[in-house]
Amino acid sequence: MADLQSLANVVGPENLTVDDDVRHEFGRDWTRYMQPAPLAVTFPRSTEHVRGIVRWARNEKVGIVPSGGRSGLSGGAMAIKGELVVSFSKMNKILELSRGDAMVRCEAGVITENLQKFALDHGFYYPVDFAARGSSAIGGNIATNAGGIKVLRYGLTRDWVAGLTVVTGTGEVLELGKGLIKNATGYDLRHLFIGSEGTLGLVTHATMRLTRPPLPQRVLFMAVNDTESIMKIFDAFRSSVAISAFETLNEDAMQGVSAKGLKRPLETVSRWYVLVEHDTADNDRALEVFQTVMNEGLALDGVVSESSAQAAALWRLREDITEALAHHTPYKNDVSVMVSRVPSFLADADAVLKREYPTYTIVWFGHIGDGNLHISILKPKELPMEQFYKACQKVDTMLFEVVQKHGGSISAEHGVGLTKKPFLSYTRSPEEIATMRALKQVFDPDGIMNPGKMFDP
Ligand code: MLT
Ligand code: ZN
Repeated sequence: MADLQSLANVVGPENLTVDDDVRHEFGRDWTRYMQPAPLAVTFPRSTEHVRGIVRWARNEKVGIVPSGGRSGLSGGAMAIKGELVVSFSKMNKILELSRGDAMVRCEAGVITENLQKFALDHGFYYPVDFAARGSSAIGGNIATNAGGIKVLRYGLTRDWVAGLTVVTGTGEVLELGKGLIKNATGYDLRHLFIGSEGTLGLVTHATMRLTRPPLPQRVLFMAVNDTESIMKIFDAFRSSVAISAFETLNEDAMQGVSAKGLKRPLETVSRWYVLVEHDTADNDRALEVFQTVMNEGLALDGVVSESSAQAAALWRLREDITEALAHHTPYKNDVSVMVSRVPSFLADADAVLKREYPTYTIVWFGHIGDGNLHISILKPKELPMEQFYKACQKVDTMLFEVVQKHGGSISAEHGVGLTKKPFLSYTRSPEEIATMRALKQVFDPDGIMNPGKMFDP
């Protein structure tokens, strides 16, 4: 039995709990196929606390599961085997803005939206953005290298991390990157920690780059019949305007958000819809492209936002899909291929899914402009969860064979966690996985950092 009293001595008794409700709440993310069963939950206030926690866990041979906003979708923050949950919800302060560097240093538990607001309030912009902005935390974004909706123009979380403070699985504190733009002194360990899903150590602080605020976003929304037309529309916009987002949803997704009360923006019902956003001065050019793709019949119908409120309403059709479908407990996949392979991948994947799931609803949506598509299979009401999950896992192998054939990834942005662990080899070679295991051994020789996630020892 782990000695929780000595842990309470490290973090203070007020920052440690075994309360059932708290364990249930903090021991899980948005994955709905597993039950949380953590030993306890601790709420460190400092890097020193985190270092003490790791040393305690090493001593006691207890696994550590980091917990940020708990909006993950691959089980990366699920504590299902008596682990200690380390929640960063009390390390949620924005510490220091350096105007000269256009950088901000913050604690790992800062909520994404709070960082975005802080940046805007100070004349800057933090552009990494996604629907879970109101609950996801910076530490979790770093742990999964979060992507989201503006990757086309602004890149991934990785591109905005200038420095990190991490506590490794051996209890060492490392300062990585230190905010330097140029630093040619060997391995950049910062990038190893970004996307490592807490398996090497815990991020306690981050220095994030900022940029200047864009012009107000303009949104164009179109009904489209097929994926070839979607990609031609993408090509037309991308070659003319620096678009910030190019998203898609199918008619089943549209039905999901409509059922939740969102008004359809177009009379035309079609198989697909695309949403294009730009935040540049090129509006006339964007409207010209819009007119051309309409005239050419690539888009069947369309609407252009005339106000920020209308732009936000159009975005809700895409961003509210996850929430609108939640009551169906969907089985989720989050795959990517190179943009040029999207139409052929989609045709192959859709054929497999339709063959294997003749009676299930298959919802497609996602960031088609960067090659990342989300597939949500809706659980038929009467089907028991376990049976549904097993059936979907079987189909996963067929879907991932298609992903592999097209040189893609089984997880574009949600991470491997627990749910994609059995399939890692569809995207990573045995040599790569062996190298990752060897790296884990260096940073976490006792295997206490987010154990069982990504790959087994
Ligand atoms: C999104 O793009 O909306 C998120 O990745 C969430 C999801 O896939 O459900
Ligand atoms: Zn996404």
